[in-house]
Amino acid sequence: MTDSRTAASPVFTDAFGRQITYLRLSVTDRCNLRCHYCMPEGMTFLPKEMLLSYEEMLRLVGILAGNGVEKVRITGGEPFVRREVLGFLTELKNIDGLGKRYVTTNGVVPDKVFAHLPDLALSGVNLSLDSLDRARFARITRRDRLGQVLAFMDRVLDLGIPLKINVVVMSGQNEADLIPLANLTRELPVTVRFIEEMPFNGNQKQAAPVPWHYRRIEEYLGKTFPGLVRQPQLTGSTELLYRIPGHRGEVGIIAGYSRTFCGTCNRLRVNARGEMRTCLYGKKVLDLRRLMRSGADDAAIAGAIAAAVAGRFADGWSAQQDRDRRQPHNPSMSVIGG
Ligand code: GTP
Ligand code: 5AD
Ligand code: SF4
Repeated sequence: MTDSRTAASPVFTDAFGRQITYLRLSVTDRCNLRCHYCMPEGMTFLPKEMLLSYEEMLRLVGILAGNGVEKVRITGGEPFVRREVLGFLTELKNIDGLGKRYVTTNGVVPDKVFAHLPDLALSGVNLSLDSLDRARFARITRRDRLGQVLAFMDRVLDLGIPLKINVVVMSGQNEADLIPLANLTRELPVTVRFIEEMPFNGNQKQAAPVPWHYRRIEEYLGKTFPGLVRQPQLTGSTELLYRIPGHRGEVGIIAGYSRTFCGTCNRLRVNARGEMRTCLYGKKVLDLRRLMRSGADDAAIAGAIAAAVAGRFADGWSAQQDRDRRQPHNPSMSVIGG
């Protein structure tokens, strides 16, 4: 691989001084669940030739790791449904400078993943789990798979892999689950994070003000756990963390809709077709698939990424305003990559 560091872009830094150190890379838009907040039934998925190949993704991660990116999170859709993804995750281990590799999954994974999970040496796994009740889980995800998700959770815990559980808080859907999910932290070394629902469900409908605002979630948890202690917010993190006295794990809140954390955002997102976004709420800013397939060398790719990063908006509100001008409908989270 050629050296992609250039004098103009030793690291990817935006006009507000925020450096990109974290890549969220989606490997597929497909999923084996159909969570209402993410995608409708009857989605059309991308044909294989429109996806970045594993070779292209490894090249891209190599370029980013050579320019200050230390952490990659593999997302989807559901990343473990893409063929041969285990081989790709294994190859990621060999990329110089990339210290941390994570996966966000729904836990409905093939048996092969159970068997090979230890070999992947992941720094952590984030697991989507919105309900501990079988019927509610099936209603939210439109699939009856709670048993498989819980078995996957046990496997991750048995292996001692750091685990976070993602709970999207939905009015009239899973309010009864919030305390039971928070109570998982009593005995288990997990971080259970409650997430504001965001307008990425693939429908035309615009989101109303979020009913479960982060302050409401905090207040609600505080009623059951009066000793809830807020932890200092980590730079570049989207989560507000809390300890509950006597609990082994922690709870967290992600103000994904309120966007309280943009000031220290260190993330770049690339979706399965190679479109890069500098904000979850923004439009695509670079077509990496086209650039790579046009024969661009590593320095040219790094330069294009640096230029796109330089044009980043200050926060998710201004990025959304810019996107809405051209694209008024809600994309699916599975298409953006989460
Ligand atoms: P950590 O690496 O543990 O901080 O994980 P993460 O929170 O970055 O990743 P995960 O895939 O588990 O995402 C959890 C929730 O946070 C999902 O609902 C994401 O869509 C949301 N999220 C992740 N990054 C951003 C972001 O940059 N902005 C907003 N608004 N939400 C985000
Ligand atoms: N709002 C908030 N979180 C969402 N996720 C998917 N769609 C939404 C949404 N509309 C979460 C999933 C998964 C992560 C990648 O994004 O629960 O944990
Ligand atoms: Fe699949 Fe995740 Fe979307 Fe649910 S939120 S449908 S698990 S990609």
